[in-house]
Amino acid sequence: MKKVVRKIIIGGQWGDEGKGKMVDLFSDGVDYCIRFQGGSNAGHTIIFEGSVYKLRLLPSGVLRGATGILTSNVVIDLDVLKKEIQNTKNPKVLIDQKAIIVLPVYKTLDVKKDKSYGGIGTTGNGIGIAYSDKVNRCAFRMEDLLKPISEWKNKFKKIWHTHSSMMDYDSVKWFTHDMTTYLQSMASFFEDKIVDTGELIFKEIKNDKSFVIEGGQGTLLDINHGTYPFVTSSNTIATSVETSLGCHFPKKFDRVGVFKAYCTRVGNGEFQGELDNELGDKIREIGKEYGVVTGRDRRCGWLSLPLLKYAQRLNGFDFLCITKSDVLDGFDEVKLIDLDGNLKSFKGWDHTYGKKDFNSLDSNLISYIDYIEKQIEVPILVISTGADREQTIIRGDLF
Ligand code: GDP
Ligand code: IMO
Ligand code: MG
Repeated sequence: MKKVVRKIIIGGQWGDEGKGKMVDLFSDGVDYCIRFQGGSNAGHTIIFEGSVYKLRLLPSGVLRGATGILTSNVVIDLDVLKKEIQNTKNPKVLIDQKAIIVLPVYKTLDVKKDKSYGGIGTTGNGIGIAYSDKVNRCAFRMEDLLKPISEWKNKFKKIWHTHSSMMDYDSVKWFTHDMTTYLQSMASFFEDKIVDTGELIFKEIKNDKSFVIEGGQGTLLDINHGTYPFVTSSNTIATSVETSLGCHFPKKFDRVGVFKAYCTRVGNGEFQGELDNELGDKIREIGKEYGVVTGRDRRCGWLSLPLLKYAQRLNGFDFLCITKSDVLDGFDEVKLIDLDGNLKSFKGWDHTYGKKDFNSLDSNLISYIDYIEKQIEVPILVISTGADREQTIIRGDLF
């Protein structure tokens, strides 16, 4: 009997590990693909049949025909989501009624705040403002779009008072006017997509439907456990999925960690192993390490095993996927930060690009993979050898 796919795909580093590609890989024929946190700060790339797709809010599995779900803990930029829906062929999309809306003004506030004191280099998408308004209990939810406009006024008052010192709106009247016009224009597009997704997910897991849950950002950007304060504003790790979903898991989900053969980071903050030199520039150029959302240069450096081990502790991965080993093809030497904190050198490898068979990989790369597996004590069952869907090695029966 065919196994039912139930997987959670999580970034093991600071984001951009290749989660989109892995979600796409596991979404073949699945019923539902779910984003459980974050918002349009994410940029997930999926490449197949000569086309490149870059998704920020739509779960990547919608490209395979899965029904996309955005749960209560996703913050929704209605403009971005509407465009993505319109630019995708017949996507099926449901949004939780409790999800918070990223008001257009949040983006301005995010950029202003990040510039004004001790900036961390956010993506400027209003993510931190949306989550802080949620915690302040004044945010506008998707379900509010379905309520009479007369009930919106009080909400706008609270939001305006929270941010008035930094807003360009000098009166609550104009703020209310503009937000009402904006949200009214969006309500008719979204109204039939707003449901209690927790109830649906719970029912459908029990019905043995298949699911791929897609993480945004990465473990080290988690608001609690990441490299605070240089983090995003949501919980990004596998153990937080159930609170976001609105139901417990009545059946087991595999937890899948994705990491690069090296490491990258966008924005500010510590980065042990960073190569702020010509070698880092070379990796950036070959690996096309530029932000999907902001176009910023991604900082590049060696893989850190202490951080990957920490990610394993937080997430409890059942198996790992390593991406972008092909980017290091032709390097004489590759290093990683060992569990004792020292740099360890490995002989470089070649001809990884596009390979589909594990045994045809350069033995130096196999040694590198073996070493990581032993240190982290989790099997590496997927090796991505290029950006395309087909450029993948799968060890064992994962579906
Ligand atoms: P995500 O945010 O984790 O989904 O990752 P991004 O899409 O932001 O960044 C990963 C980039 O690497 C994208 O451009 C992918 O197309 C690309 N990519 C993914 N896996 C591989 C791989 O194994 N090799 C190469 N060369 N590129 C890859
Ligand atoms: P995906 O899903 C890489 C980083 C930003 C910044 C910090 C806070 O594509 O892996 P935010 O806008 O969230 O308030 O910014 O988090 N960041 C990401 N870095 N990949 C991402 O998403 C990211 N989303 C946020 O660069 O340092
Ligand atoms: Mg990305």
